[in-house]
Amino acid sequence: MCGATPQTASTTCGTVGILGAGTMGTGIAQVAAIAGWDVRLIDQEVEAAEAGQQLVVKRLDRLVEKGRIDQGDRDAGVARLNPSNNIKHLADCDMVIEAIVEDLSVKVETLQPIAELLSPDAIIATNTSSLSVTDIARELTGSERVVGMHFFNPAALMPLVEIIRGQETKAAVADQAASIAMSWGKTTVRASDTPGFIVNRVARPYYLEAWRLYEDGYATVEAIDEVMRDCAKFRMGPFELTDLIGQDVNTATTRSVWERLDCPARLAPSAAQEGLVAKGNLGRKTKHGAYDYTVDPPTPAIERTAVELEIDDSLAEALSSFSSAEPIQHRYICARIVAAIINEAAWAASQDVATTNDIDIALRLGTNYPKGPFEWAAEVGVECIENLLKSLNAQSEDGRFEPPEQLVSLINTHSGESH
Ligand code: NAI
Repeated sequence: MCGATPQTASTTCGTVGILGAGTMGTGIAQVAAIAGWDVRLIDQEVEAAEAGQQLVVKRLDRLVEKGRIDQGDRDAGVARLNPSNNIKHLADCDMVIEAIVEDLSVKVETLQPIAELLSPDAIIATNTSSLSVTDIARELTGSERVVGMHFFNPAALMPLVEIIRGQETKAAVADQAASIAMSWGKTTVRASDTPGFIVNRVARPYYLEAWRLYEDGYATVEAIDEVMRDCAKFRMGPFELTDLIGQDVNTATTRSVWERLDCPARLAPSAAQEGLVAKGNLGRKTKHGAYDYTVDPPTPAIERTAVELEIDDSLAEALSSFSSAEPIQHRYICARIVAAIINEAAWAASQDVATTNDIDIALRLGTNYPKGPFEWAAEVGVECIENLLKSLNAQSEDGRFEPPEQLVSLINTHSGESH
């Protein structure tokens, strides 16, 4: 099995330790075991590690039932999974991936004895989504072999892994982590060690601009969701999606990214969304969020104060070149959210978070966007995006649609390279 996937050429199978047998750890363990790696699945209590192993076994059984893998691969994968609560079992690992609680001091305290135990050339990867890889690495023995490997949930299904180099990470370590992820069938992108990396930063306006449209009173949550599904071809509207993610989880990520980026107006948390969290209406898991899930089908659960949308001539012109959706209110909703995403992508690229190409790949594969932001910008035309951002900025009170100086050159260079 090892070496069978198309991208495995440069990597041989080894032994990986997965620390934390929760949502992410079990998904990553499944991916590694099926790709032919021996997996040591470690959790605090042996029962938790064993429960994690059993969950993976169940998922593999389901894949056999669906005909996605054959019985032989399932049996070999299961035989490679070794649950334990003893970190000594990690001593001979080629790589350890931590997927434990998102707390800097807990991560450092847990990883330090493991760093001492491992051979000096073993890789230590962190699946953190909001902490700095540099901060995690700093205190660990051998910080140059610590790297970010950010998988997406569900890890067994989502094809993307963001590879993040901390300040001290050796280039060869990041390359090796990328090649291992590719040998497990994943697509990798490179991100700098900045808040939210690529996806959790560039995707923020999908939620935030939708909440602001609602706060402005221009549309109901249901209408905004419908427009983003029907006109823009997103799989889920922003409100149904934040209800699924959990409004608490979504606002916590927003606040963390916003604060760590020095509070730009573009990424400021939404008062309405945080108000919902304060009331305990967290989405599907509490049956109340932007929608009420006690009824079928769910109905909008937050009232808007209706305000009529006014569109001046220059905005109308920019909207016409962006889309032909009717009525113009739909065009406006879609253009405002997409322009905000493109703008954040441009800010991220201008601040060297990643290349425009990797940003597009990350958003398509990490969030299932119908198009990458730069692909979208190139398709509607750089002039249209510039005009749209200018008109939206004139209408906004906080200047959040102000683009980076490099907007035009980033879009032009990207479209030049992708043709
Ligand atoms: P989880 O709560 O489902 O699982 C964490 C597991 O780690 C639990 O089984 C817990 O018992 C175990 N654990 C905690 N402290 C430990 C320790 N000191 N030693 C050994 N095991 C320990 O958490 P989840 O959602 O899997 O998240 C794990 C990491 O992955 C976090 O850093 C999170 O930010 C990141 N992440 C989460 C994503 C998600 O959608 N859930 C997506 C991408 C990254």
